[in-house]
Amino acid sequence: MTDTATPRTWNGDRRRTDRRRPRAVRIAAVGDFHCGEEDAGRYRDLFARANDEADVLVLAGDLTRRGTPAEMRVVCGELADVKVPIVAVYGNHDHEAGEIATASSILRERGVHLLETEPFELNEHVGFAGCKGFMGGFGRWTLTSFGEAATKAFVAVTLEEAQRLEFGLRRLSTPIRVAVLHYAPTLETVVGEPEQIFPFLGNDRLAEPLDRFGVSVAFHGHAHHGTFRGHTPGGVPVFNVSHALLRQEKVGEMYFRYEIPIPPAKPAEQAPGAAAAARASPSAPGSA
Ligand SMILES: [Fe+2]
Ligand SMILES: [Fe+2]
Repeated sequence: MTDTATPRTWNGDRRRTDRRRPRAVRIAAVGDFHCGEEDAGRYRDLFARANDEADVLVLAGDLTRRGTPAEMRVVCGELADVKVPIVAVYGNHDHEAGEIATASSILRERGVHLLETEPFELNEHVGFAGCKGFMGGFGRWTLTSFGEAATKAFVAVTLEEAQRLEFGLRRLSTPIRVAVLHYAPTLETVVGEPEQIFPFLGNDRLAEPLDRFGVSVAFHGHAHHGTFRGHTPGGVPVFNVSHALLRQEKVGEMYFRYEIPIPPAKPAEQAPGAAAAARASPSAPGSA
């Protein structure tokens, strides 16, 4: 599918238009729960709480330990009772077994929307785009494409992932955009990990598309012992939702809950005739 195609939506078809405008979208976000085969049933009830607490479940990668099909089936079992839409990106652990194609089939069969393939519009107001991201470092210490072919290939992957994020965000037509990553887009949310491994935890080339597209919020994982809250240079809120960190910070037992308000409709967006009726009403604001 090209980057200009219509993003996938909740109903799997064209974007739907809600008759009742929601006041907010409630997001439940978590990464790095690293399911192994012995974890069957461990998170099932905790994930099911999202049905009451959220409108969408966001998975920020490292769903498994080694990315085997057996582990990915365990993940689907843990998600079996979740009724709200699920969007996901992979983490580095999900690539370890070299079974990403099979993993994707398993997750798609469960109905998980993989953002690395295409973005997802929850409704006409809020859309999600994302990618795994990659390493590379931060600020003036970012690794540059110079020297050995291996170094250039490494930096090329960093740049490809940033482009993937950009294309996903560009395809969203919703006014509110949410980004999902595995690697960190800012140094701020990796602080707490050993300083020597900062460059392996993310890169801030990922932050530029977040700022340029005015993303409302970004979630990532990977830095299990990093910092929960940060922001991009342009002020986009960034949350490290690694499961271990959420528990350590007592943010949530299974996921972080984040709510984005949806602004009231402008008169032109209201139902046909409503704007004219509002203008005609003696009690309408500004009519004095
Ligand atoms: Fe992880
Ligand atoms: Fe990771």
